[in-house]
Amino acid sequence: MCGIFAYHGQQQALPLLVEGLRRLEYRGYDSTGVALANGNEVVRFRTVGKVGNLHTVLPSDHPATKGIAHTRWATHGGVTEANTHPHASFDGEVQLVHNGIIENFRQLKAQLSAAGITCTSETDSEVLAHHVALGLKEGRSPEEAVAAVLNKARGTWGLCVMFNAHDALVCARHGSPLIIGKGDGEMFVSSDPHPLASHTNRVIYLEDGDLATITSDGVRVSRLGGQEVEANVTVLDNDWGESELGDSPHFMHKEIHEQPDALRHCIAGRVERTLGKGHLGGMKLTHETIVQTPHVKLLGCGTSFHAAEIGQMLIENMARIPSVAHISSEYRSNEPVINPKALHLAISQSGETADTIAAIKEIHLKGGQAFGVVNVVGSTIARLCGQGVYIHSGPEQSVASTKAFTNMVAALTIFATQLGRTGNLSRNEGRAIMEGLQQAPHLMEAYFDNPGPIDEAVDLLCNAKSVLFLGRGLSAPVAKEGALKLMEIAYIPCLAYPAGEMKHGPIALLEEGSPVVVIAPNDHVKAKTLSAIHECRARGARIILIHEKGDVIAEEGDVSIAVPAIHPLLTPLLTVVPLQLMAYRAAVKLGRDVDRPRNLAKSVTVE
Ligand code: M6R
Repeated sequence: MCGIFAYHGQQQALPLLVEGLRRLEYRGYDSTGVALANGNEVVRFRTVGKVGNLHTVLPSDHPATKGIAHTRWATHGGVTEANTHPHASFDGEVQLVHNGIIENFRQLKAQLSAAGITCTSETDSEVLAHHVALGLKEGRSPEEAVAAVLNKARGTWGLCVMFNAHDALVCARHGSPLIIGKGDGEMFVSSDPHPLASHTNRVIYLEDGDLATITSDGVRVSRLGGQEVEANVTVLDNDWGESELGDSPHFMHKEIHEQPDALRHCIAGRVERTLGKGHLGGMKLTHETIVQTPHVKLLGCGTSFHAAEIGQMLIENMARIPSVAHISSEYRSNEPVINPKALHLAISQSGETADTIAAIKEIHLKGGQAFGVVNVVGSTIARLCGQGVYIHSGPEQSVASTKAFTNMVAALTIFATQLGRTGNLSRNEGRAIMEGLQQAPHLMEAYFDNPGPIDEAVDLLCNAKSVLFLGRGLSAPVAKEGALKLMEIAYIPCLAYPAGEMKHGPIALLEEGSPVVVIAPNDHVKAKTLSAIHECRARGARIILIHEKGDVIAEEGDVSIAVPAIHPLLTPLLTVVPLQLMAYRAAVKLGRDVDRPRNLAKSVTVE
């Protein structure tokens, strides 16, 4: 949520900042702004809308070699130029960009009013700029002035402050990510690793409560309280360089089609086929720990929650350990019972989702242990858990998550076999699952060669008032995932239900011609799903059926889309793909902004 990019070095800052914002734009795209300092003056340019709009207010050239930039996802205050970052202090001495929420901003604002300072925006962030400026006036150094206001603030921040009369940039992190990139004679600051990859692979992940003072040739990191800490430099994974659009029309299109290779990366070195199981090195669990595990809880939001629901079923099926998936945003507030012997899996593509981070903190607070199932290396969730697995999808830039979903499901499948082979799962059955997993990338490729009548399905969907998605067993979360994709990028109202529940309520929605998407692979619940299809057809619904190739159930669909047959426990890896394509093509057909759907952001870093 919101992207921050900053530069302090020898090169002209402006093009670097704009490029940095462009790469961070998926984090928020309501409005954008840049402030530049060249030693004599500070200038600021802001505009409503996407980074592409910035050129309307920016000079073609500017000599400044230092600057800060921001792309906003609005929380406090509407989408206006006044609410756009950077925010300037009352005296023009301070420019500030902020990601997060200052919960007590009203109190901080009242203190400013008492000092005769009026805020010009409705944001919670602006108050910080004025308080820092007041601190400078009181004789504090830039670090001290930033620390002083943050010691009074409650909430979350990743922020970067630039000064008119001081060379250094001051950054701080508490709950919102901030990464420093170290170049030679130049330093970068970014909300995530993407924009840094083209400049340097040496990065410092700030921790919560850190404050960093940055000049062109160095960085000093301390805690908010003042004590200095060692700035650990991490070498960035090469994968972060591969985030270009290339020949694809959209990142979503690219990422859907990257799934076979992403899946290969996820399973590489993790399949022990002859033993009939997989092994995730980061899940260091002894036989004794596994047999004593009372239950598994899987946590995630959105697409990651849908993967968690599939993981729950796979673990129960293969390992016979009671498992339950929780929506992270609900978890903490529901007074969860946390058993220190239980396994908690925190599932997240970005590794920055505030709701999931809050759930992990709750687990830790109550003596539990959490393992991350995360894509972004070095992200907050990965570091907070300190144990777990990377799903290795590579950079996912489209707001609609696709390749992360299939890799989460693959990683959870491997984990389920790892648990299962300690007891319930036979070697032969485990081997069949592992073989299926190894075939899955080829089967996805085979599907892409012949994706079926997606456009016919899209014609039915685009004109619909609403769309019902149905699936049973492992296909129920797939139905939810298909509905989420279509809703979030095509803005078509969708409802997803376990197929058997349809007759308990949603059937009332059906009219002549209502489109119903049914996911019915050839598994043990197919016959029951078929009954739901008949009930829908009897009410005039048009069925878009996702089924396995060669299955006679194809006759039941008005539009039938075949995916290659696979092991019944692996069907989500294939059945989700036509749903992703349908959502993508519907959004394109309706002229939506596919990669940056309205009101959304890629990483939701506020609770
Ligand atoms: O980064 P995370 O996996 O933690 O993100 C969770 C959700 O915000 C995310 O899956 C969201 O629902 C996507 N836009 C779905 O496509």
